[in-house]
Amino acid sequence: MVHLLQHPLAAHIVTHLRDRTTKPATFRTLAYQLTLLLAVEATRDLGTEPRAIETPLEPFTGQVLAHQPLIVIPILRAGLSMVQPFVDIFPDVAMGAVGLERDHETARPRSYYQKFPPLGGRRVIVVDPMLATGGSAVLALDLIRKERPADIKLVCIVAAPEGVAAVAARHSGVPIYAAALDRELNARKYILPGLGDFGDRLYGT
Ligand code: PRP
Ligand code: URA
Repeated sequence: MVHLLQHPLAAHIVTHLRDRTTKPATFRTLAYQLTLLLAVEATRDLGTEPRAIETPLEPFTGQVLAHQPLIVIPILRAGLSMVQPFVDIFPDVAMGAVGLERDHETARPRSYYQKFPPLGGRRVIVVDPMLATGGSAVLALDLIRKERPADIKLVCIVAAPEGVAAVAARHSGVPIYAAALDRELNARKYILPGLGDFGDRLYGT
């Protein structure tokens, strides 16, 4: 259920994201570029329909995306960095948001915001760069599932085995798309080797 990006460019970008000397401005650009690759990978199964057009030389029937608007739901704050790539490449995209924050002592997520467009029967992509214990992703998926979307996918940049197991245990039908599957969590529930606190590195906090 984990789809790992297999592309030299993805490996290159992840290494620079991990590098502690990478500054926030570069970090944001790299996160954007990597999410573009993930967005393409996570939407391979989008339906298409025929469209008759005319090229400058002759009539032609090609394929265009079938009308099936995507809904992207970032887990705030860090997930915001992964929204723009979806907006930039998909014509009909709507956005929701879930605000979750991990408690620094317990690593349990606390929900502080939620706003969804109608999700019933729609295709939802949840974006959050870090899947550590999986607590945040599981809580977000619980909230989204209640709205009965047709399909949910989780797209992240770095996943830990613990987070993958937590999502699989509670949301077994939700595929995970990631750029890296790391080794383990440390005692403070940070991913190793990881890249540190994504939100802090993104926003320089
Ligand atoms: C980070 C990250 C995930 C969560 C992952 O967010 O963006 O949402 O931690 O950890 P988990 O799998 O153990 O739940 P954080 O709570 O640091 O908030 P932020 O995005 O506002 O920085
Ligand atoms: N959140 C992060 O930003 N990084 C981690 O390693 C774990 C949770």
